[in-house]
Amino acid sequence: MNRSLFGEEFIWGVSTAAYQIEGGHNADGKGPSIWDVFSKKKGKIRNGHHAEVACDFYNRYEDDILLMKQLNIPHFRFSIAWTRILPEGVGEINREGINFYNRVIDTCIQHGITPWVTLYHWDLPQALENKGGWTNRSILEWFETYVRLCVDSFGDRVKHWMVMNEPVAFVGAGYFFGKHAPGRWGLRYFLPAVHHATLSMARGAKIIKERYPTAMVGTTFSHSVLEPISLKTRHIHALRRADAIMNRLFLEPILGMGYPIDAVKALKNLKKYILPGDEDNIAFNFDFIGLQTYTREVIQFSMLMPYVWANIVEPRKRGIKHTTAMDWEIYPSSIYEALKRFQSYPNMPPIIITENGAAFKDEVIGDRVYDAERTKYLQDHIQQVLRAKEEGVDVRGYFVWTFTDNFEWAEGYHPRFGLVHVDFETQKRIVKESGKWYGEWLSR
Ligand code: FCB
Repeated sequence: MNRSLFGEEFIWGVSTAAYQIEGGHNADGKGPSIWDVFSKKKGKIRNGHHAEVACDFYNRYEDDILLMKQLNIPHFRFSIAWTRILPEGVGEINREGINFYNRVIDTCIQHGITPWVTLYHWDLPQALENKGGWTNRSILEWFETYVRLCVDSFGDRVKHWMVMNEPVAFVGAGYFFGKHAPGRWGLRYFLPAVHHATLSMARGAKIIKERYPTAMVGTTFSHSVLEPISLKTRHIHALRRADAIMNRLFLEPILGMGYPIDAVKALKNLKKYILPGDEDNIAFNFDFIGLQTYTREVIQFSMLMPYVWANIVEPRKRGIKHTTAMDWEIYPSSIYEALKRFQSYPNMPPIIITENGAAFKDEVIGDRVYDAERTKYLQDHIQQVLRAKEEGVDVRGYFVWTFTDNFEWAEGYHPRFGLVHVDFETQKRIVKESGKWYGEWLSR
């Protein structure tokens, strides 16, 4: 396999998110986000970890971007921390925060690296969560204020935008399961949050396009390739329900197909939150759709999971011994299948893999990290992307999750996903062998 098989135009990069790397949690006027507050609560984050310092990207961005350049990485995806620029979510603007992102963007451009900006990668201002967060319909206006400020401040230099990162993950884990910030659970939070996040994707995109019609605007979705544990009818039905929630719920409305209400009874209650006129403001013709996938999931019928009546059968329970540090099965063809599925939607814009990668238990030996498993994971997945591309899928790019090891949400620092190892005591960076491989791949 050779990079040239993907063509000159194919976009290669690395992806990150503000809360996972920046640290500087209260530096220079930044306000608290739901993740700052959630991480302080006992028992929410594995080992009691928090991201007050994380990778200290807030202070080390120049060195990290320089390292990207040394590894020939042409595109860098990062997100803006809403509370760094609007500490209370709306209202007073924090110029120091805007200056920080100006410096990050300018440093990228100086080094010939294209910045790709995600507007919302899960770190909602706590001040807005106090008013209901995503469950409060006023979030449409709050989000609009924030997006306008970002576009006005950075749009002269940022030409690639993603409105939202994996809505099903933050709405599901944050407002249905309570496992992620803000830690609420129940249908009465989940359903309004679903609708408001969906509307916000289109609204955010429209704001960018009105101001900068030639900007490339996308939004990203997680996708899980699902298989039933057996062909028994109850498992197949369980799979259909799980698929509607995990894969279709946010994607189909923005493609103009409406919510998959018929697949899961509880979704009928979404109607309570849909106001007249909303139907006309849900779909948006994005310039690209970000697809993020890491593994496949096996689904079985379950009485324990209300509404969906399905659960995921963990790899170990299926006899799979070798998994990633997230306990995810390594199953490269899932990225191919996910791409094929996305392409099967008639209105699907060009697709970019905006995240893919793996966490392993890395070991530092001297000044090296021999992470052959990660290199193999990346190579095998890239190969499957090529397979889909050669079969006609309009896939235009691939971003590795992630550049440096970082704060993996409720899992803390234990899963290391980076191409670059970070010693969280000293902040020392070591390029892993996988990082060197990616750098060589990109130089060819
Ligand atoms: C995705 C998230 C990203 C990271 C990876 C491992 O779901 O978008 O922030 O946590 O998973």
